[in-house]
Amino acid sequence: MDAKVENSPVSGPGEHALQPGHDPYHHLHDEAYAAPFGQHRVGWRQMLSVAGRIVEPLDGAWNFVLDLHDEGLRQRWFEDAPEPIGGWTTPRDYDDGDWQSTIVPSCWNVVRPEWTYFEGGAWYTRHLDFAPGKAGERVFLRVGAANYEARVFLNGVFLGSHRGGSTPFFIELTEHLNTGENRLQINVDNRRRPERVPMNHTDWFNYGGIYREIGLVRVPALFIRDFGVALVPGSAGKRIAVDVTLSEPASGTARLSIDGLASDVAVPISGGIGRLEFEAAPDLWSPANPRLYSVGISFGEDRLGDKIGFREIRVEGQRILLNGEDIFLRGICVHEDDRDLGKVSTEADIRRRYADAKALNANFLRLSHYPHHELAAQIADEVGLLLWEEVPVYWAIDFANPDTFADADNQLREMIRRDRNRASIVIWGVGNENADTDARLAFMSGLAASCREMDSTRLVSAACLINREHFRIEDRLSEALDIIGLNEYFGWYEPSLDGLKRLFANSDLDKPLVITETGADAVAGREGRPGELFGESHQSDLYERQLDLVESAPYVRGFCPWILYDFRTERRQTAYQRGWNLKGLIAADKTTRKKAFTTLSERYSELAQQQKPAGP
Ligand code: GCU
Repeated sequence: MDAKVENSPVSGPGEHALQPGHDPYHHLHDEAYAAPFGQHRVGWRQMLSVAGRIVEPLDGAWNFVLDLHDEGLRQRWFEDAPEPIGGWTTPRDYDDGDWQSTIVPSCWNVVRPEWTYFEGGAWYTRHLDFAPGKAGERVFLRVGAANYEARVFLNGVFLGSHRGGSTPFFIELTEHLNTGENRLQINVDNRRRPERVPMNHTDWFNYGGIYREIGLVRVPALFIRDFGVALVPGSAGKRIAVDVTLSEPASGTARLSIDGLASDVAVPISGGIGRLEFEAAPDLWSPANPRLYSVGISFGEDRLGDKIGFREIRVEGQRILLNGEDIFLRGICVHEDDRDLGKVSTEADIRRRYADAKALNANFLRLSHYPHHELAAQIADEVGLLLWEEVPVYWAIDFANPDTFADADNQLREMIRRDRNRASIVIWGVGNENADTDARLAFMSGLAASCREMDSTRLVSAACLINREHFRIEDRLSEALDIIGLNEYFGWYEPSLDGLKRLFANSDLDKPLVITETGADAVAGREGRPGELFGESHQSDLYERQLDLVESAPYVRGFCPWILYDFRTERRQTAYQRGWNLKGLIAADKTTRKKAFTTLSERYSELAQQQKPAGP
């Protein structure tokens, strides 16, 4: 573009181009273009409980267009009224994408081959036909998850943004909705950046898109934003606490009912919040007895409902106690990854995952490395499995960056707000395999403190590394944790199991340890010679030898190997892996079991018999 053209009154997009002094090419020189769209950022405080609410689905076909250079933000496409390209009098770089569409929820990477490795911005657009409901209602857009940053526009107006790729967010539409026709646009950007959470280097595939359900939620002018119902820790299962947060600092009385346990409990509310404890002796939830109660809570016109299990999890010395009984966590790790659906989780996929875990005789899953779909905990409540949920504070996070901490802390609080009434979740994980630096210690201790501030009914852990200098299980972060998680790959990245023997011999812990990762790659169907890498016999043999050692260490109270299914990762490009991590006990078809599956299943069955507490 040469200088003289820039000063001529040539037309640019939209009618404003002809205004005196308007530079139609300003967007070519403005690298601060994204700043306005980082404002009005929503987070955990703007969430609202949807338990028992009607969510009007907006899933299905949306117009879609990739926008690698963020032209839509730079040129403010959203301000141009939609107009068929045949009627334009000035050219645009965007036509609402009505020549191509995609289905929401989805990951664009698995929709078209040419979109597989796309990392950048993209636009979802749809028309929304809106009919007002009750007088005074407030209308929110709920997005189940969009990776990584999302910006919402309604009828040409920017309404808000959200950071974080695995937790729900809410944008209020009320004041900007037309009766009848509306135009809803969502810009999603899945770029990996050093200051994001996770940062730009991970061992899982960077999917992009609106990959969980999206819909409208209508609530009364004054509504229940959040509530929790749980056993009071230390009450030996004899007291229940309920807390309620309203959308405004109003006062009054909320009413709580728990079928078969408590009817019409009055919860005084003052300044928008209320908390009450009362005597009750529920039938306790456990994997062997996944007892759920129908809970109702109301305030004014607003009423919510949920199915909630009551249980207590705590540590005592080196032991983990569920409802007062010693428990050993027979676990398996799992990613949210599917060969055909990418990061989209369906109910069928989650139920298959849990059926496979039960076939392993597992009682525990680590949902790695980010908050999974809300159905994961809801179904685990129902089928009786214990869960570890975590935020993607993974590897070399920008620990010294306060914005990065704010992002991680918000994702953590969103996860806890969303899933706080799920009995199956017993552990919040605040990170994975992070170097023990001062900045990391402050950052992750801060996250552990946030867990305890938000929720006193669960344990806090992290998947830590060993102290290489002393070759023992030692991490300054342990002070802030209830359970020490340990990722170790003796028998794979460190070929000899002698290292694990030495580590256990050198270590003495005053709290429970859970092996949060170990494993080996194996090509499904390739037996391999004994000891041959990427063979099923080597993977199976590793599990046998790992468990022999794990069972010898009294403070190891859980074993959670890596991983249930093979999964996509750009990092693995050997002849065997070709873009997949093959440490799964089941291949990427989620059907073909490897030899190690049977090995672990048999060992867990023996463990279940030996240490059979009141539970599977
Ligand atoms: C690490 C990491 C995992 C990774 C695994 C592996 O422990 O936490 O995300 O996939 O090792 O190397 O397979």
